Amino acid sequence: MKLLVTGCCGFIGTNFVKLVLRQHPTWHVTNLDKLTYAGNRSSLLSEETDPVHYRFVQGDICDAKLVEELVAGVEAVVHFAAESHNDNSLKDPSPFLHTNLIGTYTLLEAVRKHNVRYHHISTDEVYGDLELDDPDKFHETTPYNPSSPYSSTKAGSDMLVRAWVRSFGVKATISNCSNNYGPYQHIEKFIPRQITNLICGVRPKLYGKGENVRDWIHVEDHNLAVLEILAKGKIGETYLIGADGEKNNKEVVELLLTLMGHDAKDYDHVSDRPGHDMRYAIDSTKLRTELGWKPIYTNFRDGLQATVDWYKANESWWRPAKEATEKKYAQLGR
Ligand code: NAD
Ligand code: DAU
Repeated sequence: MKLLVTGCCGFIGTNFVKLVLRQHPTWHVTNLDKLTYAGNRSSLLSEETDPVHYRFVQGDICDAKLVEELVAGVEAVVHFAAESHNDNSLKDPSPFLHTNLIGTYTLLEAVRKHNVRYHHISTDEVYGDLELDDPDKFHETTPYNPSSPYSSTKAGSDMLVRAWVRSFGVKATISNCSNNYGPYQHIEKFIPRQITNLICGVRPKLYGKGENVRDWIHVEDHNLAVLEILAKGKIGETYLIGADGEKNNKEVVELLLTLMGHDAKDYDHVSDRPGHDMRYAIDSTKLRTELGWKPIYTNFRDGLQATVDWYKANESWWRPAKEATEKKYAQLGR
C-alpha cells in the first residue's frame, strides 16, 4: 500500500504514521506537511532513517501542482492537515479558510483526477454543542451547526467531500472524532498545556467555570478506527469516532493535579472562550457494529498518567514552544 498522509508533523498524524509503520511494515508512507507553528518534524525523525517506507515532503496542501504529483503515485490519501485550534481561529480566521477549505478542495481535485481513495479526518465540532443535560449524543445524522471559525471551516470541508462523492464519484469516506489526548499533542491544547504548566511551576488555567464537557479518546484509538475505515469503510459514508469518555474540564484538571502530586484545587479560573461550546458527546454505534472497532484505552486515568509521563520524559520536544504559546494566551487574557 502506498499512502499519502497530510499534516503528519502534527499530533494525530504523527501517531498515525508511527502506528501504520508498526502494523504494516511493508507500506510506503509519504507525509506532506507545511510545518506551520503546529508541525514538528522531529516527531518523525527516526522514521526518516528508513526512506523506503517513510518520506517527508515539506509543502502546502493548497499547492495544486505538488499535491497532484504526490497523489498520482499513491493508492490512498488520508487527510489530517488542518489549522486545528479554536482559540487561534477566533484571533485570525484567515489561515483556517486557506488550509481547511482550499486545502481540502485541492486534495479532492487531485484524487478525482487520479481516481485515488480518500479518507477525510474531521471533528465532532461540526455538530455544534449539546446541553449538559441533553440525553442525546451526536450521531451520523445530526444536523451540522458549527460555532467557531475553526469548526465552520471543518464543516465546510466535510461538505466539499460529500459533494465530490455525489457529483464526481470520488471514493471518499469521512470520520468525525471527539477530543484526542496522548503523546505529541501541541502544548496550546488543554491537557498538554496544563501538564507543562505544572512542570514549569505554573497553576493550571480553566476557562470560565470549567463545566464544559469534552468526550476524550486516546489518539491511538482514533487512529485504529481510521485504519478500520480505510480498510472496510463504505464509500460515501461518515463514521463518528468516540470512546464514551465524557468529562468536564474541572474533573480533568483535578485529576491531572492529583496525578502530578498537587492539591486537586490548585488551579485558577480565567476568562472564558467566546462562543465556548458547552458539551460534545459521540454515539459511535455505527463504527462499532458495522466495522467491529472498539477502544483499547478505556481507563482515562491510566491514559492520562502515561501522557503526563511522556511530557515529563520529552521536555526537549515541547520546551522550545512553551514561551511563545503562553505569550499568545497572555494576549488573550487566558
Ligand atoms: P495539529 O494542529 O497538531 O497538526 C496539524 C498539522 O497540519 C501540522 O503538522 C501542520 O504543520 C500541518 N498543516 C497545517 N496547515 C497545512 C497546510 N496548509 N499544508 C500542509 N500541512 C499543513 O492538528 P491535530 O490535532 O493533529 O489534528 C489533525 C486533524 O484531526 C485535523 O484535521 C483536526 O481537525 C482533526 N481532529 C482533531 C482532533 C483533536 O482532538 N486534536 C479531534 C478530531 C479531529
Ligand atoms: O472535539 C474535537 C476538537 O477538540 C478538535 O476538532 C480540535 O482540533 C481540538 O483542538 C479540540 O477542540 P477543543 O476546543 O475542545 O480543545 P482545547 O484543547 O482547545 O480545549 C478543550 C477544553 O478545555 C475546552 O472546553 C476549552 C478548555 N480549556 C482549554 C485551554 C487551552 C481550558 O479550560 N483551559 C485552557 O487553558
